[in-house]
Amino acid sequence: MLKGRSLIDPMDFTTEELEEIFVLADKIIENPKEYAHAADGMILATLFYEPSTRTRFSFEAAMLRLGGQIIGFSSPDSSSVSKGETVADTIRTVSCYADIAAMRHPKEGAPRIASMYSSIPVINAGDGGHQHPTQTLTDLLTMRKIKGKLSDLTIGICGDLKFGRTVHSLIKAMSRYSNIKFLLISPDELRIPDYIKKEVLVKNNIEFEEVSKIEDVIESLDVLYMTRVQRERFFNEEDYIRLKDSYILDDKKMKLAPKDMIVMHPLPRVNEISYEVDEDERACYFIQAQYGMYVRMALIAKLLGVCE
Ligand code: NCD
Repeated sequence: MLKGRSLIDPMDFTTEELEEIFVLADKIIENPKEYAHAADGMILATLFYEPSTRTRFSFEAAMLRLGGQIIGFSSPDSSSVSKGETVADTIRTVSCYADIAAMRHPKEGAPRIASMYSSIPVINAGDGGHQHPTQTLTDLLTMRKIKGKLSDLTIGICGDLKFGRTVHSLIKAMSRYSNIKFLLISPDELRIPDYIKKEVLVKNNIEFEEVSKIEDVIESLDVLYMTRVQRERFFNEEDYIRLKDSYILDDKKMKLAPKDMIVMHPLPRVNEISYEVDEDERACYFIQAQYGMYVRMALIAKLLGVCE
């Protein structure tokens, strides 16, 4: 039963519960009109302490498309946070006004704290360099729809594997499906954190390899998941400038890739995918953004308990 629950970490839900959400997302995609009043009279609060385009808009569009309403802030400067209010007090107050909340915060663990003080479901919309579970729902729905499965996949993840929260959540979530192999493509300094390596990959016996060049592995991939270098999490600008263009996926590299490989990206992109690749039919990042809205509709409806 998902009604009333919060989603803070991708492992909060079982794979069966995730499947329930994907099945509902499929039904919404097939027949969106049928769900246009599912959340009539209900309110989603979006509490964004950190910038966002897709995630906040897709949450808000999702609630509006379910017939609900939205309140919230897109920067802490415009709320009582700027007066020094704690996350705990903010969520207690928001619980009095809204039926569900989505929170993005630069501090790792802030949405978890919020969920402990909240009387409404809290959805983690990204906490620092930690986790981003609704991006993972988006990524899984995309693979499920386009590749037709979530098992037996070789997934290349490229870019900032150290600070990229979407990467951490994706690896955690995929660790529960069978026959998954990861090729982790990054510069030495941006490798996957040790805790993910030890507690997720090694512990679950998942095959993985750390490499430094896309060209060396692209021909063996089912999915290439590109990410941007996370400028805002660097301690100094020089390191960012040195590493920011480590990878640029272009037509030349795409020529080496299998015909049925798909390219994904949580977006925003900076330089890591050339615009020419957008024309390639294997480029799936914009449809992925659209699936993000549908999967959030399904998630909100399930947590509110308004859809089967
Ligand atoms: C991601 C994020 O915020 O972590 N963006 C998103 O939610 N689609 C990826 C990123 O910012 O690089």
